[in-house]
Amino acid sequence: MRIDVVSIFPEYLAPLELSLIGKARQDGLLELNVHDLRTFTTDKHRTVDDTPYGGGAGMVMKPEPWAQALESIAKSGMTPEDGAAKKPVLIVPSPAGERFNQALAYELADEEQLVFACGRYEGIDERVIEWAAGHFTVRPMSLGDYVLNGGEVAVLAMVEAIGRLLPGVVGNPESLVEESHSDGLLEYPVYTKPSSWRDREVPAILLSGNHGKIAQWRRHEQFRRTAARRPDLLAEFDAGGLTRADKAAFGELGYDVVDGRLRLRPEAGSAD
Ligand code: ADE
Repeated sequence: MRIDVVSIFPEYLAPLELSLIGKARQDGLLELNVHDLRTFTTDKHRTVDDTPYGGGAGMVMKPEPWAQALESIAKSGMTPEDGAAKKPVLIVPSPAGERFNQALAYELADEEQLVFACGRYEGIDERVIEWAAGHFTVRPMSLGDYVLNGGEVAVLAMVEAIGRLLPGVVGNPESLVEESHSDGLLEYPVYTKPSSWRDREVPAILLSGNHGKIAQWRRHEQFRRTAARRPDLLAEFDAGGLTRADKAAFGELGYDVVDGRLRLRPEAGSAD
């Protein structure tokens, strides 16, 4: 996969040289280029922003440096004539974007090229987003319902979430299977040695050696945790494949299965 990031603070992206993502770059599993937006300006002051039309607080990023930057990346990338199957995806981090999640991380990990446009100030002139659709599949994306100072921190999070799904990046791909959000549920709690620590014991089932029972306990812990912390995920959960024991576990948490979906019994209170 190739990733290009455009920012006025290229140093912000330095952590992408570390750890698993840094190693994936060294191993040639991921090509990642960071571009300084100011190198695409033409004036003495390397201006990237101006006051908003219509008035209001803050500054807006000017269209021209963005067009130059994105055009240069589009030209340097793979074109359909080179065998690229489709247009690169341009991700514009913004609190006004579609919510990024694990399903999107998987979807984006299948792309050949991703470009991230880090806005600052009040954002990028909207015409850039419209114009860019000629070169890219444009996807404004939000990390969550809060406001960051710019897109860089969001890019760090998204590139890590996507990059670790690329084949070969995570040493043991099985660890991707049982983690939070991989199946629409939160991960079960984990424990390591010693089995007794400050008067707290590891749940006995985990020491039993009964792998069937352990798997079921872990799954039911996932249900319990998700019901307590993220009941919104259970509303989306496909309950069609639940076993009788699973349904009983959900029953204890106050959920019934109705038409393949989990439904909280009206009289059921909070699960934790
Ligand atoms: N830029 C500013 N806030 C953001 C957010 N919540 N998600 C993604 N990009 C952002």
